[in-house]
Amino acid sequence: MFQFQWVWHNMGDQRKKFVLGVILQIIFPAMALINPKLIQTLIDNVVVGITDPVTGEVVRRMDMLVPLAVGTCLVTLVRTLMGYYMVMIFEKVSQQTVKNIRLKLYENLQYNEMEFFDRNRTGDLMTRMTGDLDMVRHSIAGISRQLLNSLILFVAALVFFLATDWIFTLCILAVTPVIYAVSAFYSKKIKPMYRGQRERLTELNTAAQENISGNRVIKAFAREDYEIEKFGEKNKSYRDTNIFVNLYWMKFFPIMEMSANMLTVVEVLVGGLFIINGRLTAGELMALSSLTWAVAQPIRQMGMLLNDTQRFFASANKIIEVYYQTPTIHTKDTAFKPEKVKGDISFEHVTFRFGKNVILDDVSFEIKAGETVAFMGTPGSGKTTIMNMLLRFYDAESGSIKVDGVDVRDWDLKALRKGIGMATQDVFLFSDTAEGNVCYGEPEMSVEDVRKYAVMADADEFIQHMTDGYDTIIGERGVGLSGGQKQRIALARALAVRPSILILDDTTSAVDMETEKYIQGQLDNLDFPCTKIVVGQRISSVKNADKIIIMEQGRIVEMGVHSELLKRDGYYREIFNIQNSGMDVKDLKEAGVI
Ligand SMILES: Nc1ncnc2c1ncn2[C@@H]1O[C@H](COP(=O)(O)OP(=O)(O)OP(=O)(O)O)[C@@H](O)[C@H]1O
Ligand SMILES: [Mg+2]
Repeated sequence: MFQFQWVWHNMGDQRKKFVLGVILQIIFPAMALINPKLIQTLIDNVVVGITDPVTGEVVRRMDMLVPLAVGTCLVTLVRTLMGYYMVMIFEKVSQQTVKNIRLKLYENLQYNEMEFFDRNRTGDLMTRMTGDLDMVRHSIAGISRQLLNSLILFVAALVFFLATDWIFTLCILAVTPVIYAVSAFYSKKIKPMYRGQRERLTELNTAAQENISGNRVIKAFAREDYEIEKFGEKNKSYRDTNIFVNLYWMKFFPIMEMSANMLTVVEVLVGGLFIINGRLTAGELMALSSLTWAVAQPIRQMGMLLNDTQRFFASANKIIEVYYQTPTIHTKDTAFKPEKVKGDISFEHVTFRFGKNVILDDVSFEIKAGETVAFMGTPGSGKTTIMNMLLRFYDAESGSIKVDGVDVRDWDLKALRKGIGMATQDVFLFSDTAEGNVCYGEPEMSVEDVRKYAVMADADEFIQHMTDGYDTIIGERGVGLSGGQKQRIALARALAVRPSILILDDTTSAVDMETEKYIQGQLDNLDFPCTKIVVGQRISSVKNADKIIIMEQGRIVEMGVHSELLKRDGYYREIFNIQNSGMDVKDLKEAGVI
């Protein structure tokens, strides 16, 4: 049972406590036999009395009354305290274990590669981190305890029954398969419903997460009503599943109760007969009937518990999938780990696919340390993918990507990525202060340095104008900032790590020409050596580059400097013409300027 091993492994320093809990959980139900035995003694010796076989006189042992009564109370007290302590132990162990698992899961999520996040829905990952994890917690705290309790209680009660009267025991046991059958039937029926319940919860989580993060799009398209309705349907479906599952239990409850009560009928019938013919004493029957629940309850619960156990397995498997998900992209043992990245880059016949789609097709180029290289091309032509591959977010299918002459697959991942600063196309800012966002890659940076890089990215001025300046909390995804402002903070963040390779993926698309020019000037005068890769759509952002690479459908179609590319009748010149056509003479005449 790998799942149990996994839980045991994650208990960490709680294992001793868990073992103590298990021991208590074995003693606790076994102690349930003491009181019936004391009561039996009390009835037979004190209430009914013992008949002297010689004189025929009934002797009532009144002296035993107080010790037996006190004994019963003491046993109850000890059991109650023990029960409380036990529950506390299981509760604590379960919380600690789940905390350990949660942390490891989170760690694993962090280290997983991009492809993992492409494959898994956020809502599904959230369900694993919440609902499934809670099921595991409930299994440790409740189900394991109840299973143990049922098992020990049943065995102990059975021993007690057998020791008292084996025929009576057999009569009682004859009814138990009926109870188990009812319980097992219910469990079988409910199992797929639980699966449905989990799926509905995942859908609900996904919808909520998308609605919250996509709220601006929803508003812009005035689709609130539609989203509310869509969410409402999912919510209703989740409610219906929950109601159905719970009502299903209610339907079964009377049948379950009835089958369990059959035990009482058997007990009264057989017990009555046995008392009449002297096979049982009144005290013995009293003790047996006070323990009938100890036979019925475990059997009644067994179906449910086995069912819950299966739910535990299902949830544990879902978590284990992520828990042991090892990224295929990781650092080799003999990885290249220099102090600093120099900044030479080469792509040699790189081909890459997403599923069946060829995204990069035999891409080759070279960038020397310190150069500025620009990428341009149609949307979806693979520019961002090239950047992602340079950071080794994805591995090439064939060909090789080298940084400083070493294949990125042979690099220490952290060393490689730390040497590269990237301002991504899809800007993501953390819910943190402006300062915290800028120095995200270098948290120890001084305030002066934070400002220095913000100035370079032309972000200082607007940050200063915010309510709390650099201490202003920027909302999730930078809500409250304009697109250009977000881009500038992202640029400052990339610069602040003083990277040897700086990637600007469409970073200045949302800033005006003047600001772009200022930023370019700053980038030309960085106080550290840096290879710059600029992805852009404006001729003005790429024209001064040492090399301009034009992409189309995953292939490099043009490569050269501004003047060379202008000479060719290709994509670059076409874009140049469009962007520099300016106002036609006809337009100017119409406008009355000339
Ligand atoms: N996670 C993904 N799964 C599947 N296909 C993807 C994924 N990411 C990108 N693609 C596909 O890869 C191709 C290249 O995408 P990429 O983002 O590199 O284009 P781009 O040149 O940066 O485009 P743009 O100018 O619009 O930013 C596109 O056809 C896109 O649909
Ligand atoms: Mg892109």
